[in-house]
Formats: sequence, structure tokens, C-alpha cells
Amino acid sequence: MRTIQQLHDLQGRTALVTGGSRGLGLQMAHALGEAGARVMLCSRKADDLEQAVAELQAGGIDARWIAADCAVEEDLRRLADQTLERMGRIDILVNNAGASWAAPAQDYPVAAWDKVMNLNIRGYFILSQQVARRWMIPNGGGRIINVASISGLGANPPDMPMIAYNTSKGAVVNFTRALASEWGQHHINVNAVCPGFFPSKLSAGALKVFGEDTLASHAPLRRLGDDEDLKGITLLFASDAGKHITGQYLAVDGGVSIVTGG
Ligand SMILES: NC(=O)c1ccc[n+]([C@@H]2O[C@H](COP(=O)([O-])OP(=O)(O)OC[C@H]3O[C@@H](n4cnc5c(N)ncnc54)[C@H](OP(=O)(O)O)[C@@H]3O)[C@@H](O)[C@H]2O)c1
Repeated sequence: MRTIQQLHDLQGRTALVTGGSRGLGLQMAHALGEAGARVMLCSRKADDLEQAVAELQAGGIDARWIAADCAVEEDLRRLADQTLERMGRIDILVNNAGASWAAPAQDYPVAAWDKVMNLNIRGYFILSQQVARRWMIPNGGGRIINVASISGLGANPPDMPMIAYNTSKGAVVNFTRALASEWGQHHINVNAVCPGFFPSKLSAGALKVFGEDTLASHAPLRRLGDDEDLKGITLLFASDAGKHITGQYLAVDGGVSIVTGG
């Protein structure tokens, strides 16, 4: 029987994290790298990626970057190709790059719907397919962690309308189950994380409009997520400690979803 430290050890594994240049993706990259994985970050802006990689490297993590738009199929194919060329393997895929758009459903621009859906769910599908086809299935398995949201477990409050975001994140939760069912036979575990509010560039608008204290007060734990709160679940889903867990989601939300019923 392995010790709990051995079960969480990611030495020798390689992780690809989309949207890894800041926010939740960078936090998850820290968790994976600190546990021993080599990390490839992806997002669109090279300067931000360079800065994020420098931050990880300063912590002793073997980290590199590739710029790609995760809403574009050709970029996602290139991302899988180049990651395999440069890292040799992809044991852990974190589908995290995401976008939101706020507007009442009756006024919601179709272009905004397409933008959100293309990145938040179509991109997750294409990259998962590429990585599974090229590496995980032929090489005996892997881990996929999909970043969903508590917005995928129910509706937003009426004064926070984001129809495409809710729809895309709900889709991520069931995409996770469907993929886990199909790919269990290939020893690929697929799980989802559903964060509540974490301060980041993506959530800055909502935090400003509704107020950090007000949003925190909606959580039974009376707090927002911080720069450590996703590390534990990331390591559980990525490591052998979680090898019998697949098709699940875990809300990391201070308890918001137990009140809203997600
Ligand atoms: N923060 C929250 O409260 C919260 C709550 C629930 C769920 N989430 C989810 O967590 C994930 C990360 O969000 P975050 O809060 O960390 O947001 P963030 O700080 O805005 O970071 C988003 C990351 O995704 C990248 N990105 C955006 N569009 C991209 C594209 N088309 N192609 C490739 N990369 C792209 C960004 O870099 P570039 O802009 O340079 O490409 C950045 O690295 C998202 O899926 C979001 O829905 C966040």
C-alpha cells in the first residue's frame, strides 16, 4: 500500500493547462507543478504566459508555454501536437480557458453566445479528443479535469444574467460524465471542478457590480475562493489518490451551491 504522499506524487507526469496564464488555471498549474509534474501552459497572450512561466519556474517547476486560441480548432490541434513534440507526453489535461458575457437573454448577441460556447465547451471537446487520440488512449490512460462552475449547476440570480455561460457550464458537467463513461475503458478519468466566486479578471465585473462582501455573504462559509482553494481538488483529480473517481464534479464554492440547490 502506498503512502498518502506517494499517492499524490506527480513526478514523471506532464500536465497541459489551458488558460494557465493567470487566475484559476495558474493556481491549478502551481498545484500540479508543486506535486512534481512538468507543466505546459496555454493562453492567447505570450507576455502573460512568459510571466506565468517565470512565476512557476521561480518555484522550481519545469514549466513552458504555447500561445493558442482555444476557441479555434486549428490552434487546438497545434497545441496538442506541439505539447507532445516538446514534452513527449500528456498525462493530465486541464480544460480551463473560459469566457463569460453578461446580458439579458432577450438581448443576448448571438455572436456572444457563439464566443462563449466555442471556448467553454466546443474547445474542451476538441482538445480532449486530440489529447486522448494522440496520447492518452494509445499510452494507457490519463486524467482530464474540466473547469465548470456553480453556474453550470443551476441558474444565476435574475440580476446576473449570463445565459450562454450557464448553458456552457451545464454542458461541461454532463460532457464530463459522458466522456468518463466512454473513456473509462481507456483508463482516462474525467472529472469537473465547479468553482464559486474567485476574484479574477473574468469575475472582476460581477465582483464590482455586486460587491465582494455581498457575494461572500451568500456563501455559508462567508468567503470567496482564494489562490489556494483549488489546489487540493486539482491534485486529487490529477493523482493516483483519485484513481477510482471519474465522471464527478465537486463544487469549490464556500457552500453556495448547497443553498441554491446545485
Ligand atoms: N473566477 C471565477 O469566479 C470563476 C468561477 C467559476 C468558474 N470559473 C471558470 O474558471 C476558468 C478560468 O477563469 P478565471 O476566473 O481564471 O479567468 P481569467 O483570470 O480571465 O483567466 C482566463 C484564462 O483563459 C485564457 N483565455 C481566455 N480566452 C482564451 C482563448 N480564447 N484561448 C485560450 N486561452 C484563453 C486567458 O488568457 P488570454 O486572455 O491571454 O487568452 C487566461 O489565461 C473559466 O473556465 C471560468 O469560467 C471562474
